[in-house]
Order: sequence, then structure tokens, then C-alpha cells
Amino acid sequence: MSHGPSASGGALVAAAPHGHDHAPYTPVFTAGSARRAELDALITRYPTKMAALLPALWMVQEERGWIAPEAMSEVASVLDLTAAYVKGVVTFYTMYHQHPVGRHFIQVCTTSPCLCAGADKVVDSFLEHTGCKELGVTSPDGKFTVIEVECLGACGFATPVQINADYVENVTPEKVPAILAGLK
Ligand code: FES
Repeated sequence: MSHGPSASGGALVAAAPHGHDHAPYTPVFTAGSARRAELDALITRYPTKMAALLPALWMVQEERGWIAPEAMSEVASVLDLTAAYVKGVVTFYTMYHQHPVGRHFIQVCTTSPCLCAGADKVVDSFLEHTGCKELGVTSPDGKFTVIEVECLGACGFATPVQINADYVENVTPEKVPAILAGLK
């Protein structure tokens, strides 16, 4: 069954409205800031500035919740890269958010083995109980965003779900309300 936008294939395709204003971007790596010091220290551990790109993007996401086009330009400038190169990296990995997402970012594996075990019903249950209705669309209360992803590396525990940095295994549609209730 199609649920709308999907992250399958390694790149988040979702581009639906999410109910978030795109506020003016505030740079993360301003001179003298703690994040700039952290990044500068990190850069010294690598042979090239480019090598610090992934952690730099993580820092942006930790600070801003997602990686706006302006953030890609800022990171590119700091690391002497092109914005196009940074965008290519951001769009390759599903862990980088290209738009604002809910406080709880829920990723359900729907690759074939999990799909055979009923992952699509797990997705349906999350969409229903979070109020998201569609994949990639944040719930009206801003708490949840649900996407489908490729193999989470827990094929023997279908269906696995990643919620922010935590993993929940053997998820069934019936378990979803209790899982959501346990999220702060
Ligand atoms: S196929 Fe779902 S975790 Fe591997």
C-alpha cells in the first residue's frame, strides 16, 4: 500500500507541508561560538576539512532540528566546499532532515523481509495513532513524523522501528499505542 512520500532508496523524498514556518536562519558556526570551537577542534583530527562534513551536519541538526538550505551554504563555506556538494550529501542520507520534523522521528523498516512480516500494517498503525496521516508529514501537534526506511539491520526482529536514536524491535500494529504513550 502506498502511504505517500517515502524515504525508501536512501533519500527522503517527502516535501509535503509540515505546518512549520521557515524562520530566518541563524548561523550555527559563528566565530567564537561553542559549536565553531567544537568544529575547529574536530577539523584538526582529519587530513582535510571535507572529512568533517558529516559531523558538521550533525551539529547543525542538533542545533536547528533540520538542515535548511542556508545551513548547507554555511557548512559549505566553513569547510571550503560547494553548497551543491553539501546538498548531495544531505540528500543521500535519510538521517539528515531536509525539512522540520516532529520531536519524535519514527522510521519503520519496510524492506522485503519486514514487509513480509507485516511492516506495512505497522506503518498504518503509526500514521493513524500519531495523527500524521501521511508519510513525511508532521502531526498537527508537532510531536511526530513517520517515514519508511530501508533495512535497519534487525531483520530477525521484524518489524524494527527507530525512534530518534532508539530502536524498538518486534513491533506489531497492536503495540504502537503503548510505544507512543511511552514517548516523552
Ligand atoms: S529488512 Fe527490516 S531490518 Fe532488515
